[in-house]
Amino acid sequence: MNNPDLIVAAETRSPVGVPALLSSDLEPLYLRRSGTSLLIDFSTGEAAMLHFGADLGLALPDLSLLGEAVPHSALDVPVTLGLIPQASSGWRGRPGLRGHRNGQAFSARLRVVSVERSSVEGSHGEDCSAVITQADPEAGVSVRTEIRFNDGGLLQLRHRLDNHGADPYSLDELAAVLPVGRAAIEILDLTGRWCRESHPQRLPLRQGTWVRSGRHGRTGHDASLLLAAGTPGFGNRHGQVWAVHLGWSGNHESFVDAAADGRTVMGASELLGAGEISVAANASYETPWLFAAYSAAGLDGISDAFYTWFRARPHHPGVRSGKARPVVLNVWEAVYFDHRLEPLLELAEAAAGLGVERFVLDDGWFRGRRDDQAGLGDWYVDEDLWPAGLTPLIDAVTGHGMEFGLWVEPEMVNEDSDLARAHPDWIAGPAQRSAGGPAGRLPERWRHQQVLDLVNPAAWQYIFDRLDALLSEYRISYLKWDQNRDLAEMGHAGRPSVHAQTLAAYRLLDELRKAHPGVEIESCSSGGARVDLGILERTDRIWASDCNDALERQTIQRWTGVVVPPELVGSHIGPTTSHTTARTHDLSFRAITAMFGHFGLEWDVRRLAAAERTELAAAIALFKQYRPLLHSGRMVRADEPDPALRLHGVVSHDGGEALYALVSVATSFAEVPGRVCLPGLLPDAAYRVEAVYPAADDRRAFLQAAPPAWLVGGIEASGRFLAESGLPMPVLNPEHGLLLAVRRVTAAAPAADPAANSAHPVRNP
Ligand code: DGJ
Repeated sequence: MNNPDLIVAAETRSPVGVPALLSSDLEPLYLRRSGTSLLIDFSTGEAAMLHFGADLGLALPDLSLLGEAVPHSALDVPVTLGLIPQASSGWRGRPGLRGHRNGQAFSARLRVVSVERSSVEGSHGEDCSAVITQADPEAGVSVRTEIRFNDGGLLQLRHRLDNHGADPYSLDELAAVLPVGRAAIEILDLTGRWCRESHPQRLPLRQGTWVRSGRHGRTGHDASLLLAAGTPGFGNRHGQVWAVHLGWSGNHESFVDAAADGRTVMGASELLGAGEISVAANASYETPWLFAAYSAAGLDGISDAFYTWFRARPHHPGVRSGKARPVVLNVWEAVYFDHRLEPLLELAEAAAGLGVERFVLDDGWFRGRRDDQAGLGDWYVDEDLWPAGLTPLIDAVTGHGMEFGLWVEPEMVNEDSDLARAHPDWIAGPAQRSAGGPAGRLPERWRHQQVLDLVNPAAWQYIFDRLDALLSEYRISYLKWDQNRDLAEMGHAGRPSVHAQTLAAYRLLDELRKAHPGVEIESCSSGGARVDLGILERTDRIWASDCNDALERQTIQRWTGVVVPPELVGSHIGPTTSHTTARTHDLSFRAITAMFGHFGLEWDVRRLAAAERTELAAAIALFKQYRPLLHSGRMVRADEPDPALRLHGVVSHDGGEALYALVSVATSFAEVPGRVCLPGLLPDAAYRVEAVYPAADDRRAFLQAAPPAWLVGGIEASGRFLAESGLPMPVLNPEHGLLLAVRRVTAAAPAADPAANSAHPVRNP
């Protein structure tokens, strides 16, 4: 929480309303948090970014002496890398601000007018957040930059552009950027498609700009949830890494810009359509938050920063709020559009018997919805399918002690719906239309649907009222909020409107949450096409992918989880044979995969064989046992050298316990896995390691004559031994997993000398 201890360099107004410039002898801004720091100097009159990365300690040199050398055939003064990189300071990389007034005022010269610094409780009085305002009186604009440095080292940065001129300012781009250390020479980002979200790609950093553009009108299946740059071969637990994420669910770009002068910046901005943002006189435009982190110990350090930030939020669901994440059953892959009360009652009963805590009715319950071709927009319970409404099902579900959840897709409309027939002009598209008039030229259909123009206040209000009515009438604890198409040619009143539509959708979520504070909301978008920190500020989990194949999920969840903690990542046990890939997997592999997320089922569990039912109930119980740890601890991912194997785990913050999953994703080149390291424990504490699932004699999971001796009965070893030497692992069949539970068995650490480990009650493995 900010304290009132503000050191403000007062902002004064010049006669034309533009804040007056300050002298350039301001103290530099040096923000430090959890081993990371940001250093901004003002000695040139501009906010100059000198450093983002490792903490630099307390003794800083005279920063005014640190201007770059002036080379031949160049500007006569050192080029400043500004908080807003600008051509007026000689910056020839990607500019931070692009805009104009009808072709004039195209190049701003922003100079500092005020700096407000504040510390945060618990930060030992050091500055942890700041607001810097820079202005250009001639161009008639100012940019106010808000910077927050959160516990855990996650930096947040956003700009607000104010138009002080008498005429509109056309904004093309306002980007948030940060400097990257020279040691970073490799880029890693994520890409994907439907059913294959969040897959990594790496490339060398070269001079020039690497840009990831998202023009889907939503975040996108291929969105780079994380854009990282680091030292050669940086991994999960080694190497320096700088990383950024833009908290925005509309069009966007993230980029690494390696300028000709040798400096590199990383950043992101909203990608604006032609003429989309015209800032009226005395009005402003605000960018989404850029989130940035630095780690000296690989990607796990980046995850630490993001997880700490997520979990400090007062509304964060899970352990802190005292409300454990309920085990979900979603009916989609069990019944699809076949909505009949009797089978659903049977399914609810079977789910409750297995230990499920939340039952979610998916697509197909509303008027005219028998398949994906009609009905979107008509948010009334279908009277033919549900003559007594949803009450009989909800009563049964809640009677079994489960919460009830309902699927909706509020931002979309089918042309075959009463809503579209009554209000054709509520369908968003490129054409200019009048109220009640024809729809005009529409974008191509996608899953037979169009986008509802939520920028239109009447359409927005209709949707709000319908959802409000449903949430008021029925005992609904959870909405699965879907969004199943790109916002192509998205327009309102003939102008591009992705920006306004995104804000309208955010407001819809915000207002509904205000009206129904107990209701949780999941962000789904044909799987994981809307996973970002903008949507996650107003929803309680994301659906990472429509693919429930455990093998695919190993990658999708691993990389989604670099940014988003497991309690926010929906993760279900699907049918034995995956509906999206036709691969067949044992229950143990599907369950071990789903456990490292917000666990649930998406499977017709009405008629399971007795042994399978028993195993599934036991897996659910196991998840519940480890849920507090899984949803609060630190994520660790080993840098496992065998590409056929992966090892990840969650370690409690006090180092007292951990749960690891060893996963075989392919056949290995090696006959045996050898010793696999279990990182992240306290080096000098002793631990007991036990294999908890599947059983050591499970012939489906293991391909071996005999397991390593420790597997039956467990073993004790120091954290250092487990991290550095590891344990010999059984030979897992491909596409199988092994769950290992680790518990600390000594209270105090003996001598740090590894040789002293002989004093531990360690049996040689
Ligand atoms: C796409 C979602 O990702 C699925 O889980 C399911 O809810 C369908 N939409 C329903 O139409």
